[in-house]
Amino acid sequence: MTTTETQELALTPTQIEGPYYKVCSPHRSSLLEPGISGTPLEITGQVLNEKGKPIPGAALDFWQSDDKGNYDMVGDFLRGHVFSDDNGHYSIETIMPACYEPRQARHIHVKVQGVSRPYTTQLYFSDDEDRVKDNFYQKELEVQVSDQPGGRKRGTFNFVIRQVTEQENVTPESLAARVK
Ligand SMILES: [Fe+2]
Repeated sequence: MTTTETQELALTPTQIEGPYYKVCSPHRSSLLEPGISGTPLEITGQVLNEKGKPIPGAALDFWQSDDKGNYDMVGDFLRGHVFSDDNGHYSIETIMPACYEPRQARHIHVKVQGVSRPYTTQLYFSDDEDRVKDNFYQKELEVQVSDQPGGRKRGTFNFVIRQVTEQENVTPESLAARVK
């Protein structure tokens, strides 16, 4: 993880949403379903603020293609959201996505939101040789992947997002209190 001169963690870069996001994904920590094909992949990590403090209760909403590069735009196949726990940890079980035209990199889309604006971004994979040919690939968004027994993969990625401060957190009540 990179740090700035002030020793704060660099915020996770945001990226385009793309055309395949759908609201109301299921709340589930595994996107695996009976009969699903592809390489099983577990991604774990933490949601942190820029000072490295864990953010509990952050929502992480994932969507991705299947192992042939198709997105389900009718149902919720390979869509789901989880919440970070008391220590900011999250985990999601899924499969390694395929590439699809015009993309060159395997990627998983995600929206992360704490007491913050939503951070829309994409995750890439350290073992995907073609990732560097992709126009959107950023090293800062790379999941560090390792091979596991049985052909499974495991990856880690920490998100760093900026929470809304007390001062910025305008509610109708607080705004009314300020302007009177
Ligand atoms: Fe995509």
